[in-house]
Amino acid sequence: MTDVSTTDAALDLTPQQPALDDQTSDDTGPAGNGGRDTLTVTDNRTGQTYELEITDGTIRAADLKQINADGEGLATYDPGFVNTASCRSAVTFIDGDAGILEYRGYPIEQLAEHSTFLEVAYLLLNGDLPTEAELEEWVHQITIHTFLHENVKQLMQGYRYDAHPMGMLMSSVSALSTFYPDAVKIADVDNRQLQITRLIAKMPTLGAFAFRHAQGKPYVYPDNRLSYVENFLAMLFKMSEPTYAADPRLVKALDILLILHADHEQNCSTNAVRSVGSSQVDPYSAVAAGIGALYGPLHGGANEAVLKMLRRIGSVDQIPAFIEGVKAGKEKLMGFGHRVYKNFDPRATIIKKACDDVFAVTGVNPLLEIAQELERIALEDEYFVKRKLYPNVDFYSGLIYEALQFPPEMFTVLFAIGRTPGWLAQWSELVQDKEQKIARPKQIYTGHRTREFVPMAER
Ligand code: CMC
Repeated sequence: MTDVSTTDAALDLTPQQPALDDQTSDDTGPAGNGGRDTLTVTDNRTGQTYELEITDGTIRAADLKQINADGEGLATYDPGFVNTASCRSAVTFIDGDAGILEYRGYPIEQLAEHSTFLEVAYLLLNGDLPTEAELEEWVHQITIHTFLHENVKQLMQGYRYDAHPMGMLMSSVSALSTFYPDAVKIADVDNRQLQITRLIAKMPTLGAFAFRHAQGKPYVYPDNRLSYVENFLAMLFKMSEPTYAADPRLVKALDILLILHADHEQNCSTNAVRSVGSSQVDPYSAVAAGIGALYGPLHGGANEAVLKMLRRIGSVDQIPAFIEGVKAGKEKLMGFGHRVYKNFDPRATIIKKACDDVFAVTGVNPLLEIAQELERIALEDEYFVKRKLYPNVDFYSGLIYEALQFPPEMFTVLFAIGRTPGWLAQWSELVQDKEQKIARPKQIYTGHRTREFVPMAER
């Protein structure tokens, strides 16, 4: 940043246009600014003008520090990071207005149609689609790492009978750091790869154990003859049959759901993974933080909240009263709205289609009628239209999960299993990014300044 001028009288807040005479055909950029990618800022407290560099559509917040009228240096205030880029990333691209989601440049629609979850995981982690041999080796590596240490099983058995599976998942993932202490060697590329493989392989086993625990059923060990999703379903639902044979249409639907959840750039949980990972802790601890963030009802917990909401509404004739309550600010229409998508969520479109495929096997979920009518009414209502609130990925995913016989508490666990490759791809990118520093936001302090301690008897 450069301090370009100092004047006492520069108090005009109107953006200044250069005089036409100043513009020549040679040096004028698209905005008539001489082609410079800079921002000129005048601090009206001092009249001082600064020129800030614009790179990739951003200015560096640290450049503002030199605007220093009060001795503190200017900063930005951005609760929830609504307009702050925290990193450079080449993993996932989203255009919220156009409803575009791409992993490493591949549109989500194509991946959902042609790919598999493990292939997408490879893509996210490595940047390109695998060759046949690379995919075979990757699937093999994942398959041979699905088992858990018996002590992890014992740890999970120690939970109360009604423990929420997300709480169990979060703590068992963080416990893995104690089983693989080498995971702290995050600068070692082979070591990173091993921990990434382990975690993606073990997530379904942990999720299934958490599910069986709540049901009081014996845990089912992985069956390495099965595919990733088939094995997961077997660990969830197998009873005394020698091999659990899942319906291939349901396997495909669940595989698609995992693909849709695999990454979503800098969302709340990925930001948690990156923030915790920036301390250079091991990846299990960083991902456990991500699972904690995902647990919340405004993030991954939304699909569970959608199901509870639909059940509470109960019937189509109750919808108008419910909508009025939402508009009066009494509650939110869960599964609607998104920080980034302001037109439609492309994942919701794919999920809606998957709904049909699943219901063809399982029969229609009676809550579907309420969901469809709710969507129809909301999409015509000015309150939702004006605020650009559309169904998001969670609006219909819960209905599918329920049709697949998952209780609502398990929905976010499925989301976490799907998101693990994304978290790890972003973590891996962070670890290799020389620009990254330990996450340490500023605050605007609003509390008391130095006070004398008051003895108990005088308070
Ligand atoms: N129902 C009713 N009103 C809403 C909703 C909703 N679902 N979402 C946003 N609004 C209103 C909000 O009250 C505000 O109104 P006003 O301008 O009058 O104050 C306006 O819309 C803007 O909302 P916001 O809270 O500033 O938007 P945000 O970008 O901070 O929040 C969100 C995004 C997803 C947290 C929010 O839309 C929400 O809480 N939705 C319901 C929960 C949900 O479905 N979450 C899943 C998100 S998708 C899965 C994922 O990626 O995690």
